[in-house]
Amino acid sequence: MEECSSRYCKVCVTGGSGFIGSSLIKKLLNKGIYYVHATLRNLEDTSKVSLLKQLPGAKERLQLFEADIYNPDQFEAAIKYCQFVFHVATPFQHPQHSQYKDLTEGAVAGTKSIIMACERSGTVRRIIYTSSVMAASALSNGIAGLKDFVDETCWTPLHHPLVTSSLHKNYIISKTESEKAALRFGDDGNLEVVSLACGLVGGDTLLSYTPSSTAVIVSQLTEIEHQFQSLRLIEELSGKIPILHIEDTCDAHIFCIEKDSLHGRFLCASDYVSSSEIAEYFQQTYPELQVKQKYLDEPKKSTKWASTKLIDQGFEYKYDMKMILDDSVKCAKRHSLL
Ligand SMILES: NC(=O)c1ccc[n+]([C@@H]2O[C@H](COP(=O)([O-])OP(=O)(O)OC[C@H]3O[C@@H](n4cnc5c(N)ncnc54)[C@H](OP(=O)(O)O)[C@@H]3O)[C@@H](O)[C@H]2O)c1
Repeated sequence: MEECSSRYCKVCVTGGSGFIGSSLIKKLLNKGIYYVHATLRNLEDTSKVSLLKQLPGAKERLQLFEADIYNPDQFEAAIKYCQFVFHVATPFQHPQHSQYKDLTEGAVAGTKSIIMACERSGTVRRIIYTSSVMAASALSNGIAGLKDFVDETCWTPLHHPLVTSSLHKNYIISKTESEKAALRFGDDGNLEVVSLACGLVGGDTLLSYTPSSTAVIVSQLTEIEHQFQSLRLIEELSGKIPILHIEDTCDAHIFCIEKDSLHGRFLCASDYVSSSEIAEYFQQTYPELQVKQKYLDEPKKSTKWASTKLIDQGFEYKYDMKMILDDSVKCAKRHSLL
């Protein structure tokens, strides 16, 4: 088995051209010791390819591969020779013609297939699966209301009416089932499996548009209703909104491979705020952007954030709520969303 040394380490990032994937690749290349295999769905998409190819260090240490979750065997070449794999990609839409019956079946099959390729490789030591706090809600199964806290023991009950009636139902179910499937491999096999259930990620981007999660964070300023409904959904699922800066998101992913040994589930969010607290901050800091009163009046819940597992392992968040919100506003302004 090839070992990671202080001079050399090969890692794979699936979904390399997305918001988190591209920032993660930039950070890995900046560290100087990582050789990165990144997957994209279409290597002929020059805007996505050139964004990654012009990153500092890319010429020497970045190799791109074409792979689609709906053809999961395609990931094998990218995973070969790597010591660590970040499975960041996730399908959001189910193609019309597919061997899988729905988005969840496709996402779960893709995750399993990627983990089996890691096992077959003989080199991969650990896989980091990028999950979502939407899979770790405070909803109680069969009982009205929310639990008093959110931590790693929480799993979203997938038959809860809030999930089944949600516009994001397919996403919530596919993330939850994929995370569970990934963690089961960690229980059974030789591979270390880490799931990082991330809060809503904000901040600026390398991409030429405002990423959807950053847009959701500023939705009380843009007043784009479906994005505000996504913010409210997270609040209804979790009591408040667990938020996270893109820099902390990428640092947390890298932290998970730099530990000598790590496995299991970790929630990842530096702050836990209600939508009305976000609105209050925007009103005080950006009075010219005029926050509507209805956003300030949204009720606050008393649910507590009780996850300390990642911090207990030694991870330190560097970005608080204000920095996340400020950088999200900056990003939205730069792309003329505000
Ligand atoms: N942003 C957040 O707030 C947040 C919070 C918690 C968890 N997450 C998780 O973080 C991951 C990345 O999210 P993001 O915000 O960076 O989203 P994003 O910008 O939309 O990126 C999604 C990535 O998934 C890839 N992808 C989509 N369908 C695919 C398929 N069928 N096969 C292979 N790749 C496919 C896309 O590749 P193409 O470029 O080829 O389309 C893209 O690189 C996801 O797993 C998401 O669930 C995100």
